[in-house]
Amino acid sequence: MAESEPIRILVVDDDPEQRDAVAAMVAAKGYVPETAQHGEEALEKMGTVPFNAIVTDLFMPVLDGTQLLRTLLERGDLTPAIVLTGFGDISHAVSIVHDLRAFWFLEKPVQPQVLQALLERAIRHESLSREAAMLQRQVGYRGTLLDMVGESSAMQQVFALIQRVAPSAASVLISGESGTGKELAAQAIHKLSPRASAPFVAINCAALPEHLIESELFGHERGAFTGALTRRAGCFEQAHRGTLFLDEITEMPVGTQAKLLRVLQDGKIRRLGGISETSVDVRIVAATNRQPEKAIEEKRLREDLYYRLNVFQISLPALRHRKEDLSSLAEVLIREMNAKHGCEVDGIESEALAKLMCHSWPGNVRELRNVLERMVIVAREGTLRSQQLPPTLGVPQVNLPASDAPTGSVFKFREGATLDEVERAYIQFTLNQIGNNKRRAAKILGIGERTLHSRVAE
Ligand SMILES: Nc1ncnc2c1ncn2[C@@H]1O[C@H](COP(=O)(O)OP(=O)(O)OP(=O)(O)O)[C@@H](O)[C@H]1O
Ligand SMILES: [Mg+2]
Repeated sequence: MAESEPIRILVVDDDPEQRDAVAAMVAAKGYVPETAQHGEEALEKMGTVPFNAIVTDLFMPVLDGTQLLRTLLERGDLTPAIVLTGFGDISHAVSIVHDLRAFWFLEKPVQPQVLQALLERAIRHESLSREAAMLQRQVGYRGTLLDMVGESSAMQQVFALIQRVAPSAASVLISGESGTGKELAAQAIHKLSPRASAPFVAINCAALPEHLIESELFGHERGAFTGALTRRAGCFEQAHRGTLFLDEITEMPVGTQAKLLRVLQDGKIRRLGGISETSVDVRIVAATNRQPEKAIEEKRLREDLYYRLNVFQISLPALRHRKEDLSSLAEVLIREMNAKHGCEVDGIESEALAKLMCHSWPGNVRELRNVLERMVIVAREGTLRSQQLPPTLGVPQVNLPASDAPTGSVFKFREGATLDEVERAYIQFTLNQIGNNKRRAAKILGIGERTLHSRVAE
């Protein structure tokens, strides 16, 4: 993903001539320039998309270059910054590099080749340190990201995306079937972000009646509507400096979506029944178990809101498309259930695991979690066995015992077959699998050789 993304450079300068000149040098190098007139606008833009580097002037109104760098440093934002300084002001420049961790400084007037060479180095530096950080985390966890388990390449890609987007304040839209871990992913984004110490507030847009959702989101003043006995801060205020998780965003009334969009654009909210506006600094992560593009077509999701939220899209794969994750998921979930219910189950038999593999998991990880929870409670200790699988799992197949299984292939039969039919078909299947060796077949089937002969004769 990183390879195909454009390289974005933020140029911050209050002098329009110089700003445009620097932006042109950036564009001439093949990078995508964005501009801001001062530090505050720069922070705003950095909140919506991640930049690969910043070029900033020092003296600007509202929020100057030094304050901008200090804010980034405090936030733990590692975007490399190249600072434009006055000619001959070396000691100041050095202190900026040293104290405020600027990548480097550049004396005015800016020489295009020098700026371009510096940018190239800064971008390389940024991508290397990002890779290093990611590798370090992968070595540390291998197959997991915080509470998320997933060794499959599909999940590894999801983990990489989460790590990539978490440090910025960019909005994220998470899509995926029910139970695929959307809320878990949203929490991971929050925990890996500089906002981790501020609140993570979740609101389920589907669970709230239409008349309540706006007061939940924006809060209300006392007497704003019948029943509003006290003033109340909404989710936006509660999530200030943190992350607001808008679950099932496509179920939010379209009118509320328009109001939400306005808040996201202005960064200001007004409580219901209130007059004054309050600024809020909130990172939005939204989720849906519908396909966003389809939801737009069906007019459930406003297109403008979609574009605002969809700065980054993370799509969680269904469990049936990553069955290689089942075994490590089962391991982690069994441990969790042991702790929850005071049990001492030590794992799951390969035969039972094989049966889990054959299920299509329409309810994804949540369904798996429920199945294993039930099995752990029933077993209490020892190893989970296929007899303990819930009958609802269907299991329309029989596996050969691992020791004798020649190919590990799966025997299937149609629902509604009689036991007699299944038995005959399974005997035939076993014989086919092992090249008609009746002695071995009898052993696998757990019957005497003579019984087998008579069944075959039938
Ligand atoms: N990759 C994973 N590793 C470990 N546990 C997971 C993983 N994905 C999901 N789970 C667990 O599965 C359950 C469902 O996850 P979650 O609530 O995040 O799903 P969801 O996509 O938000 O579902 P829904 O659309 O129904 O709200 C939770 O108990 C969660 O901890
Ligand atoms: Mg959810």
